[in-house]
Amino acid sequence: MTNNQPAPDGVLRLINGYWATGVIGAASAHSLFTHLENGADTAAKLAARAEISERGTQTLLDGLVGVGLVQLHEGRYRNGPEASAYLVEGKPASLTSFAQLKLKHMGGLVALPDVVRAGGPVTDPTTEVADNPHWEEVVPAIAAQSVPAATLAAEVLGLAGAGPISILDVGGGSGIYSAVWLEANPQARATQLDWAPINAIARRLLVERGVADRFTSVDGDFHTTDFGTAQYDVALYSHIAHQEGPENNIAVLARLRQALRPGGALVICDYVVDDDRGGPAFPLIFAAEMLLKSKQGGTWRRCDYHDWLLKAGFEDVSFHSAPPATLVVAR
Ligand SMILES: C[S@@+](CC[C@H](N)C(=O)[O-])C[C@H]1O[C@@H](n2cnc3c(N)ncnc32)[C@H](O)[C@@H]1O
Repeated sequence: MTNNQPAPDGVLRLINGYWATGVIGAASAHSLFTHLENGADTAAKLAARAEISERGTQTLLDGLVGVGLVQLHEGRYRNGPEASAYLVEGKPASLTSFAQLKLKHMGGLVALPDVVRAGGPVTDPTTEVADNPHWEEVVPAIAAQSVPAATLAAEVLGLAGAGPISILDVGGGSGIYSAVWLEANPQARATQLDWAPINAIARRLLVERGVADRFTSVDGDFHTTDFGTAQYDVALYSHIAHQEGPENNIAVLARLRQALRPGGALVICDYVVDDDRGGPAFPLIFAAEMLLKSKQGGTWRRCDYHDWLLKAGFEDVSFHSAPPATLVVAR
C-alpha cells in the first residue's frame, strides 16, 4: 500500500454492513437494549435476563460497541443515547421491530445485481401486488418512524387548534398518523384508505389509543377508489410516492386536490433527494430498495414533487425537514 492510498477499513466496513444489520436485529430479537436500559450491565447479567448464551451475548455486545450503539465503561455496558431513544421496547419511537424485519429482508439483496441489470424486480414485485401480505409485516414495524414526522406535520399545519376537520390518509398503513393527529385534535375525524387486512391492523391501534370512534377505514386500491370531491381539510400521502412512477403520482395527487376543500392542505412524507441527486445519503441509498421491490418507484427529487403538485392543481408548495424524511406541504 503506498502512503497516499486511503486505508481500506472504511470500504471494508461498508462491504460488511450486513454485520451491523445482523447484530442490531439479533440484539433486538433478544431485547438486549431493553435489558440494558433496565440495568443489566454485564454479559452474564444480560444473558441471564434474555435467557441466551453468554458467548452469544458477549459477541452481540462487542458488535454493538463496534457500531457505536452501546457504550463500555469500566467493564459495565450501557445504551448510548440513540439506542436508549430508539431501540428500547415500549417507547413510542422504538425501532426494534423494524431492526428485526430488516434482518429478515437481508437475503433479498442477493438479487440486486440481476435487478440492476433488468431495471426492476426479477421475481414478484412487492408494491404492485394487491393485498400483498408483505405489508402486514411492514406497517407495524415502520409505524414508529412516522411518529416524529406526524408530530411535525401537526405543528406545521396547526392541527391541534384547527377544530372539526376531516382528514384522508391514503395508504395509511398502521394508522399511526391518524392516531397522532386525532390525539392532537379531539374534534378531528380521519378516514384511511388501504387494503382490508391493513385497515384491520390500523383499527386495532386506533382502539388502543382511544380514538377509534373518530376513525373510519375504506378498503381498496388507491389507484381506483374514489376519494370524493371537496370532502377533506387535510390529505396525507406518506411513504407512498416512492413506490409509484411519476404518471401515477400526478394522477393520485390530482385526485387528492379534488378531494380537498378549497384551502385544504396535502401532506406528503417521503425520502426526498436534492435536485442534483447529490444528497441526502439516506434517501439516495433507499432508491435501491425501490428498484428491488417496485416496477416504477424510486426516490424522487424536490423538483419532481414541485412539478407534479403544480400539474395536479396545487399552487403553494413548501418543504420541511423530518430526517431522514421530508414533509412536502401543498395547498
Ligand atoms: C410504506 S407503507 C406506508 C404506511 C404509512 N402511510 C406510513 O407512512 O407509515 C405503504 C402502505 O400503502 C399501502 N398500499 C400500497 N399500495 C396500495 C394500493 N395500491 N392501494 C391501497 N393501499 C396501498 C400498503 O398496504 C401500506 O399500508
